[in-house]
Amino acid sequence: MTDYNTILVERRDAVTLVTLNRPQALNALNSEVLADLLAAFAAFDADPSQRCAVLTGSEKAFAAGADIKEMQHQGFADMYGHDFFAGWDQFTRTRKPIIAAVSGFALGGGCELAMMCDFILAADTAKFGQPEIKLAVAPGMGGSQRLTRAVGKAKAMEMCLTSRMMGAEEAERAGLVSRIVPAADLVEEALKTAATIASMAPLAILANKEMVNAAFETSLAQGVQFERRLFHGLFGSADQKEGMAAFVEKRPGSWTGK
Ligand code: CAA
Repeated sequence: MTDYNTILVERRDAVTLVTLNRPQALNALNSEVLADLLAAFAAFDADPSQRCAVLTGSEKAFAAGADIKEMQHQGFADMYGHDFFAGWDQFTRTRKPIIAAVSGFALGGGCELAMMCDFILAADTAKFGQPEIKLAVAPGMGGSQRLTRAVGKAKAMEMCLTSRMMGAEEAERAGLVSRIVPAADLVEEALKTAATIASMAPLAILANKEMVNAAFETSLAQGVQFERRLFHGLFGSADQKEGMAAFVEKRPGSWTGK
């Protein structure tokens, strides 16, 4: 398997575990981290043996933001001219599911990266925030949009304008995270959840992810129609025949991905 400088990649059967590994910078996201993540997730998406991924950081920090030291001396022409951060769009085009397992700080770009994943499992120590305003800037990796969609305008606006961090319990109440797990169990629980997803039929995994994400991009009527068409499409798969036969015959299904 490829070696990366800023991340660790392991495989557990059909699950890929990616761990951000820049402890000296609290996993701050620089260009090298972006390049490593894009390469690792492109490989994950292309590998038919892999069905779900977990993205995690360290106990202290999922990621403390985009790398401030890398951005510090950039001007408008550098940032706008090179469309700085546009590379992250490719991360969000990963077709297979990615679970963010967040312990400690998920700040700025760290919070934004967690929100680019398909759902967030939070350790009880997790702290989410968009503190960019303290640096005299603003979110740049989607935080103002994804946080607002996740927790609503009031909380998102307060967090962006004051830099207040949201703890795990508030994040769960607000709908930012799916569940809270004791910090010591976070990665194992995320891997277990990923293994559950990975045990499902591959085309159904893709379709479920795609249709839920469509809810962010379409009107209700268009989204419902998109869902229905994908649902119809799954009836062209061998795994649908197998899945329904297995239910009727009271046995587990066995998938071909066809
Ligand atoms: N970029 C670069 N380096 C960072 C970093 C970041 N976002 N966050 C932490 N580090 C570095 C620190 O500079 C420090 O390095 P040195 O030892 O070389 O000084 C090291 O990581 C450890 O950090 P601290 O000593 O600050 O650790 P702490 O426990 O005292 O504080 C913290 C932890 C509260 C998370 C604090 O590090 C912090 O506030 N970090 C910055 C958070 C932030 O502003 N994030 C937003 C960045 S901008 C952004 O993300 C834009 C966007 O929308 C994409």
